Amino acid sequence: MATPQNITLIGAGNVGYHLGRRLHAAGMEIVQVFSRDAEKARELAEATGAEAATGLEQIQPGASLYILAIADDAIAPVAQQLQPKLTVESAVVHTSGATPSTVLAPYFPKYGIFYPLQTFSREREPDFSTIPICIYSPKQELEGQLAMLGRQVSQSVHRIDDEQRAVLHVAAVFVNNFSNHLFHIGQEILNEEQLPFELLLPLIRETVDKVERHPPKAMQTGPARRGDQETIIRHLAYLKKSPNFEKVYKVLTKSIGEIY
Ligand SMILES: NC(=O)c1ccc[n+]([C@@H]2O[C@H](COP(=O)([O-])OP(=O)(O)OC[C@H]3O[C@@H](n4cnc5c(N)ncnc54)[C@H](OP(=O)(O)O)[C@@H]3O)[C@@H](O)[C@H]2O)c1
Repeated sequence: MATPQNITLIGAGNVGYHLGRRLHAAGMEIVQVFSRDAEKARELAEATGAEAATGLEQIQPGASLYILAIADDAIAPVAQQLQPKLTVESAVVHTSGATPSTVLAPYFPKYGIFYPLQTFSREREPDFSTIPICIYSPKQELEGQLAMLGRQVSQSVHRIDDEQRAVLHVAAVFVNNFSNHLFHIGQEILNEEQLPFELLLPLIRETVDKVERHPPKAMQTGPARRGDQETIIRHLAYLKKSPNFEKVYKVLTKSIGEIY
């Protein structure tokens, strides 16, 4: 069993862009990079020494691994389009936390998952060494290869099956997507009053630092935790002008109140 050495990357979005460059830096050969956007394909191909492809018909057989880092809903249709281009022996994985690996099964018997559990944005360079890489394949040999590939880019590699990954993704949506949305709401509220968002940054950092050592439940503070109704009423009165934020405030206040 060997680490997949030559990889074709389908997708040059947030994940494709960072993962492709990291795999290349770790010594993997990136054979082709596909994006429908010629500029994105060219830029990532240049950064990884790969050939750029803008049509799936240009994808060649023979790579030891095909990584689909594309929108969740595009995984199955793209796999279907790739099937006639590749051999039945081709190993094909996707990078989605929320999509079962089995969407690939009708097209490629050697299918699996290579899911980096982190939030990726093009403009922000991630530190791959600490990112949990969640790998899975029903084919033992491919799973072993994915684990080896994961270890080339990170110290944190985990076998997580489809069911576990679906649950992990729900939790990730809470801690990242929803938290970030709440940061956005905080910023909007301050913008409205011409106050700088930077005032909140130490608070955001401390919130995250605390949960590294203590359970989040024990670290909860604020009016909902204390049951300070007068404060909650004042906050809701302020939020009347922003019905969407008011709704979010009410839902979260109720959720916290039900716990303590
Ligand atoms: N961003 C994250 O934080 C993150 C973290 C872990 C896992 N993931 C997963 O990684 C995958 C990619 O996410 P992302 O954030 O990189 O997405 P993204 O930045 O929005 O990029 C999506 C990519 O999908 C391609 N695409 C969309 N529809 C397509 C279609 N019909 N045919 C071919 N290509 C298509 C786009 O191609 P064009 O460039 O041609 O438009 C683009 O390259 C998703 O499955 C996501 O769940 C994301």
